[in-house]
Amino acid sequence: MAADDMPSDTIDDLLAEDRRFPPSEEIKADTLVAGTFLYDEAAADDEGFWARQAADLVSWDEPWHTILDWQLPYSKWFLGGTLNVAYNCLDRHVEAGLGDRVALHWEGEPGDTRTITYAQLLDEVQRFANVLRSLGVERGDRVNIYLPMIPEAAVAMLACARIGAAHSVVFGGFSSQALADRINDAEAKVLVTADGGHRRGEVFPLKPAADEALESTPSIEHVVVVKRGGNDVTMVEGRDHWYHELMAAADPVCPAEPMDAEQLLFLLYTSGTTGKPKGIMHTSGGYLTHVTYTHKYVFDLHPETDVYWCTADVGWVTGHSYIVYGPLSNGATQVMYEGVPNFPGNDRFWEIVEKYGVTILYTAPTAIRTFMKWGAEEPAKHDLSSLRLLGSVGEPINPEAWMWYHEHIGGGRCPIVDTWWQTETGGIMISPLPGATTTKPGSATFPLPGVSAEVVDDAGQRVERGGGYLTLTRPWPGMLRGIWGDPERYRDTYWSRFEGRYFAGDGAKLDDDGYLWLLGRVDDVMNVSGHRISTTEVESALVSHPAVAEAAVVGATDATTGQAIIAYVITRGGADVGVEELRAHVAAEIGAIAKPKTIYLTPDLPKTRSGKIMRRLLRDVAEGRNLGDTTTLADASVVDELQRRAVDAAGDD
Ligand code: WT7
Repeated sequence: MAADDMPSDTIDDLLAEDRRFPPSEEIKADTLVAGTFLYDEAAADDEGFWARQAADLVSWDEPWHTILDWQLPYSKWFLGGTLNVAYNCLDRHVEAGLGDRVALHWEGEPGDTRTITYAQLLDEVQRFANVLRSLGVERGDRVNIYLPMIPEAAVAMLACARIGAAHSVVFGGFSSQALADRINDAEAKVLVTADGGHRRGEVFPLKPAADEALESTPSIEHVVVVKRGGNDVTMVEGRDHWYHELMAAADPVCPAEPMDAEQLLFLLYTSGTTGKPKGIMHTSGGYLTHVTYTHKYVFDLHPETDVYWCTADVGWVTGHSYIVYGPLSNGATQVMYEGVPNFPGNDRFWEIVEKYGVTILYTAPTAIRTFMKWGAEEPAKHDLSSLRLLGSVGEPINPEAWMWYHEHIGGGRCPIVDTWWQTETGGIMISPLPGATTTKPGSATFPLPGVSAEVVDDAGQRVERGGGYLTLTRPWPGMLRGIWGDPERYRDTYWSRFEGRYFAGDGAKLDDDGYLWLLGRVDDVMNVSGHRISTTEVESALVSHPAVAEAAVVGATDATTGQAIIAYVITRGGADVGVEELRAHVAAEIGAIAKPKTIYLTPDLPKTRSGKIMRRLLRDVAEGRNLGDTTTLADASVVDELQRRAVDAAGDD
């Protein structure tokens, strides 16, 4: 893009939000962090600050001699230190007399349940660590995990950590091709999978998909299969083994050996805009410090009394950091749920909150907007008074969705932490601290103590107010250590756009009070008549109309304005609303510049299986292009319907 196309503000700041939510007296009375002491301490010496967190929150076998070795873009943390991540998540709690504390309240989609204490989880993990060893897995090897949301997923991950093997979890909703690509890139020795899992009232087969992948994965020597779905599977003699049979025969004792702080803990593949998925590398000591610290302070965790529930799948980084490593390292009691939010009814989540007395709920804006669509009467059927704190992650949360979450789930009394981070950052980077930060609906507020984030313009100059690109200026302990097998791509993707800065790929703006507002990926930023407008802001404006449940906005090439704003809108409960009224509403909320050129009313939107709207597809539809790869879509029929509507609309012109 030519520099003279650029307006002075890199991304125009159009939406103003005046609502404020200071920490309540109730939370302030019993919070871990009231006031600014953590921020002050970190600002004075960030390395020393992280070192204190590592010493206070993590158990080490050998202390480190050097806090940080920073050779841009490579960081090493806590050099010379040794620890075992599984020991930190399990043994130390049992040794402290907490073996009977519930680690997991697991709920299967059909309604079956399991209660697993820390002592029981430690027992399973030791046995499975021995199983992996008996199958030839050694320190430094990779193990692939392709499982439903069952406790064995956490067991398998922790067993790898215990023996120093790196896991690579592939989301159970991914195809056999995606699984094969990831296994081959990591050259994994063992695959842990299940016969199938439960989803929306049916059994979805996993082993058959794994079998297809296994036709082209020569590195795999053994496959361990958990029985969950009860569906028929084929077992290959000598290669495939039932989990329960191996576990029954396994030695129950597997001592936790000390690992180097920089021992590879896991690979997690994330897709970029182009090219093959990137194997993001995370190591042990720094990562564990980061997720333990953030899980404790962002969720203001009181492990003796809290019941925490993160609704993510373990196949995503949120499941790694905030179901497995952070909560277990903190000795938390949590809920783990196998299925979808609308089985058997649209109130399943609220039933679970009531049943287990969940106090902290961590979910995603896409889920919240879906709940809005289903209506406030669903949560109203249940007693949600146990909730005291709500979290959001995954994409910008529109102010209206924030307010709905606050009122209808939080009963108007729960602070909301909107947590910005990425697979690459390992843990939360930007978020309120619930007892210390006054929140504004839709803003992730400020970098956490120890984190240095800055917004810069196109030339890499720091922006004090207004829009730009979000960058991170200092290394942090949970940061990715690279891309597996591709150091060049690591440097190019994250460190080449702005000298000396990690560029996260997101647009952000700073308001007059210094609050950060995430504006989505920069490839989601439109350029309309020389104004850069965030798709998120237009979406938020649309969603603030009472008849709108969900909106997706894309920029489509336009001869006159460069890009034109195209909106796809789902109405609330099928409400009837005129397109002209919605355009006028956006104009009133943001300004005429942001008025969508075309609005399609649609019953659904194309989403990935992780719930992210596939804007690339919407752009293709808007620009009348042939559609590329739609295999990662949750429901491919949505796109056909959108195309039909686009063709109909064109015919109307
Ligand atoms: C991208 C990272 C972090 C775990 C789940 C996603 C977007 C994430 C927020 C937030 C605005 C957010 C960003 C980021 N994102 N959280 N609170 N507000 N945007 O992990 O798949 O690596 O995606 O998700 O665009 O770059 P991921």
